[in-house]
Amino acid sequence: MKRSPKFDNRVGYIIYPAAFKDSNDDGIGDIQGIISKLDYLAYIGFDLLWICPLFRSPMDDNGYDVSDYYQIDPRFGSNEDLKTLIEEAHKRGIVILLDFVLNHTSDEHPWFQKALSDPSSKERDYYFFRKGRREGDKLLPPNNWKGFFSTSTWEKVPGDNDDYYFHIFSKKMPDVNWENPALREEYYAIARHYLDMGVDGFRLDALAHLAKDTSFASSSLPPDPEGLVYDTDRFSNRPALYSYLREFNDEVFSHYDCLLVGEVGGNLTPDKALLLSDFDTGPIHMVFNFATAWVNGAFGSLDKKDEDIRTDVIALKKEFLKWYQACSARSDMPLYWDNHDHPRALSQYGSILYREKSAKALCNTLLFMYGTPFIYYGDEIGMSNVTYEKPEDFFSDVGNHNETDVLRARGYSDEHITHYLNRTSRVNSRTPMQWDKGQNAGFSSAAPINKVNGNYLEGVNVADQIDDPFSTLRFFKYAISKRHDPFINELVQHGKFEILDMPHPDVFAYTHDGAKKLVVITNMRPYTVYFSFYNNFSDILVHNYGDVIFTNHVFELRPFETYLLLV
Ligand code: NOJ
Ligand code: CA
Repeated sequence: MKRSPKFDNRVGYIIYPAAFKDSNDDGIGDIQGIISKLDYLAYIGFDLLWICPLFRSPMDDNGYDVSDYYQIDPRFGSNEDLKTLIEEAHKRGIVILLDFVLNHTSDEHPWFQKALSDPSSKERDYYFFRKGRREGDKLLPPNNWKGFFSTSTWEKVPGDNDDYYFHIFSKKMPDVNWENPALREEYYAIARHYLDMGVDGFRLDALAHLAKDTSFASSSLPPDPEGLVYDTDRFSNRPALYSYLREFNDEVFSHYDCLLVGEVGGNLTPDKALLLSDFDTGPIHMVFNFATAWVNGAFGSLDKKDEDIRTDVIALKKEFLKWYQACSARSDMPLYWDNHDHPRALSQYGSILYREKSAKALCNTLLFMYGTPFIYYGDEIGMSNVTYEKPEDFFSDVGNHNETDVLRARGYSDEHITHYLNRTSRVNSRTPMQWDKGQNAGFSSAAPINKVNGNYLEGVNVADQIDDPFSTLRFFKYAISKRHDPFINELVQHGKFEILDMPHPDVFAYTHDGAKKLVVITNMRPYTVYFSFYNNFSDILVHNYGDVIFTNHVFELRPFETYLLLV
């Protein structure tokens, strides 16, 4: 679907509420905390917020397990606080996307409680209940599928029965049945409720999975050591998904001026993305996929050595180009390096040895590609991965907890697991925002859920950077002001995008060819490299070093040096 002009030329910011700002010192970030930082966000130039889930939840998966869609979780504040947030954001020209979880509820949601207690209730069919398989005396789950959080996709219903329910995430997150029209109506009503309240749109969680292979036949792919099969095609991007969303669009979205960003995960191909986001035929506006988030080999790197983790710059360029070529003429696209499900971008593609230079380089490289950029909170001050000491430090993530259980059972040492989690865990990106040098980095005076990253004492905090014109923070502000410039925006959105020197193994360079040429050149390495450039540039719009080294048509690029040029 084509978005309305209201949403053009915006730069997004992703907030993980529990870790952003705590207003009442209970150790949990909250809506009043976000409100207190709106001026900060507006000052940097962010004008589109995606806020991870705020609804009532037992927090098994930190709010992605919703037990009441109509109530803000008391940890985050009240329904009134949400209204205030919307009003205050709008006053500052900022629009708000709520994170809307459609694939599952919490097992504590009244629908599921009813479904459990009364098998003849209408709610029973809001979920997937199936009989287990009997092998002799043994009761086994209905099939061999493995979910995203390292367990079977089936959990036994308590009591004297053979029933199981289906969940692709944790066992406290039963999947809902989108085949059921009454269930779909429930979600339409929730969406209308928030759009009527003034919310500007949604980030639609786990959207790819709404339709499943409801034959629930076991997969014939090779099983893992526990006998489970990770066959995500059984519950990802299946044909019925598109008809569900078409109906959602007809019933709800098309009646509002809203922005819809779907989260569609790893297996997505551009043609399937377009089925969702095509200007003319798609039910939503854009889809996040994970294609550009892990191009350093860290994903699944349990048995890899540190030296094997290295950004494949050519593969990264190819991935961005592939998506641009397939989608840009027919769809908007979100741009992002990281979010709350990934390690910090700076640790993936940058370097903590060149924290400031690499944070700036990543910002500049992302910001000027075609699409709507989303910056993850804290990236604007150079936040990076944690160095925790034991697997338990990561257990606020149920996925990491389950995975640790499996790996321990397979014989991995805690030291090995910790090393792996420090590199890959989602908890890396869920540590408190670093506001100043005070207690817990100014996030809260109470202990936060995830321990604060010690680097807040080394300049990685807002207070130290905000008045320093050379800081990472001020660079983001400056680059974002360029991105908002209508002339630049026109080049970015409509100039022809090309990668420059695709075979260069170290440099990420591209151009947009329009009324003028806009060029980004970034050294993605922590060492000096060279880049040939045969154009005369009229302006250096953005640069992260003090002087320019350009002789005989060759740029000498120091570690993570980045340019935005006008040619
Ligand atoms: C995607 C969310 O981004 C992630 O944090 C969550 O664990 C799953 N969906 C389940 O809702
Ligand atoms: Ca709080």
